[in-house]
Amino acid sequence: MVVPYTHEPFTDFTVEENKNLMLDALNKIEADLGKEYPLIIGGERITTEDKIISVNPANKEEVIGYVSKANKDIAEKAMQVADKTFETWRKSDPKFRADILFRSAAIVRRRKFEFTAHLVKEGGKPWKEADADTAEAIDFLEYYGRQMLKIKDGAEVNSRPIEYNQFNYIPLGVGVVISPWNFLFAIMAGTTTAAMVTGNTVLLKPASTTPVIAYKLMEVLEKAGMPAGVVNYIPGPGSEVGDYLVDHPRTRFISFTGSRDVGTRIFERAGKVQDTQKWLKRTIIEMGGKDTIVVDSEADLELAAQSIVQSAFGFSGQKCSACSRAVIHEDVYDQVKDRVAELTKELSAGDPHDNSYFMGPVIDQAAYEKIMGYIEIGKKEGNLLVGGDGDNSKGWFINPTVFADLDLKARIMQEEIFGPVVGLTKAKDFDEAIEIANNTDYGLTGAVITNNRVHLEQAREDFHVGNLYFNRGCTAAIVGYQPFGGFNMSGTDSKAGGPDYLIQHMQGKTTSEML
Ligand code: SER
Repeated sequence: MVVPYTHEPFTDFTVEENKNLMLDALNKIEADLGKEYPLIIGGERITTEDKIISVNPANKEEVIGYVSKANKDIAEKAMQVADKTFETWRKSDPKFRADILFRSAAIVRRRKFEFTAHLVKEGGKPWKEADADTAEAIDFLEYYGRQMLKIKDGAEVNSRPIEYNQFNYIPLGVGVVISPWNFLFAIMAGTTTAAMVTGNTVLLKPASTTPVIAYKLMEVLEKAGMPAGVVNYIPGPGSEVGDYLVDHPRTRFISFTGSRDVGTRIFERAGKVQDTQKWLKRTIIEMGGKDTIVVDSEADLELAAQSIVQSAFGFSGQKCSACSRAVIHEDVYDQVKDRVAELTKELSAGDPHDNSYFMGPVIDQAAYEKIMGYIEIGKKEGNLLVGGDGDNSKGWFINPTVFADLDLKARIMQEEIFGPVVGLTKAKDFDEAIEIANNTDYGLTGAVITNNRVHLEQAREDFHVGNLYFNRGCTAAIVGYQPFGGFNMSGTDSKAGGPDYLIQHMQGKTTSEML
């Protein structure tokens, strides 16, 4: 009997023992830095001349790993292996598949500090954020394993006396999983294992900025008993490997998490039926957000300011769930604005290695330039309250930045920045605040801070986001507790970590036998 699911607890680093375990782990993984990692296709290790170089975003000189790089020919080979392996894997016992996830979770849990230390280095995550990423990866493994056991016998349907009807879920085929760098472990592991536990075979193309953690997941899955060819590890450029596989007639589905530009490109390309293609490809797409915290006049203003600051600047705002706008009732606007400024001034960005900064770096030079570009735009559009500066001499650091008094149409209020930048604006009443909160192309997360029950219920109906939070921040959804995914240009609302997620990787088959 599998014990009921509960989420993996977070580590308290103020406890001396945990702090020392983490420092030991950070020292220990130094020995791994700069190693080479091959591709894995059908269990075979393939080394290429051409390499992706993964670096520590807090220290550009520090190489995390040299990772072999797939190209079109290699992607084709991987597709053939995945396609062939599907013929056996699709018939494997769902319990066998779930057991691989359970053992993988146990392996990661035993080496938790080591994985967390790796995320500090490869993802530039502060300890707390890295720990949450590892915990979420464990959660996905545990939760999807259990979900598979729940759906393995299909769903109940009626039968008349002369017949025996059954309704079952069967796998789809080869899935292309393209995972992001921000939850480099959790989302990568969650999207990959959801696809494979449901009986599909997988071509895993992790983000080019964080490919090493995906290699480490491969090692864990192999150790847990995953047969060769079920998940194939093929990091490579999106423009070459990504496009080739999205277009491929044998690709059955694509699971993507990342930017709106890439997500919409994948959606369009997947919609084109290729010669010899025998199905309509399915897409599971999670993109960005322009997530808003609404602060009412009848609210705990300290809670409001804390929620805005934590949600805007945790992991330097590099979460699709991050708060990038706060809409504040005019009666309390000045108070909240001042307190947000005060709290933000206490924060700074620095190397997450020693855990003394709230924020680490942003992921790479392109992100640094994009965010600094938005900061320049913000200086013209609104009033710079705090921050506005960065330093990319050693790593890509940007200080937490707050703009106030922005127009609703301002680019800072409409476009996803994916960095430590938040814009504040005023609403004349609660109705207007909700209207403003809904006035973007996105619909991922949102929060409302109010003690007014009528307003909470109004928001429940009218605030159009996939994840709506009351009297708390708008980040940090937990697998199996707050299924995560958004509306409109935020994606297909596939709800990762939710009870319907696995079924999206499957198709329903009805059989009816005459008795
Ligand atoms: N699930 C994360 C959060 O809720 C974002 O991907 O913050």
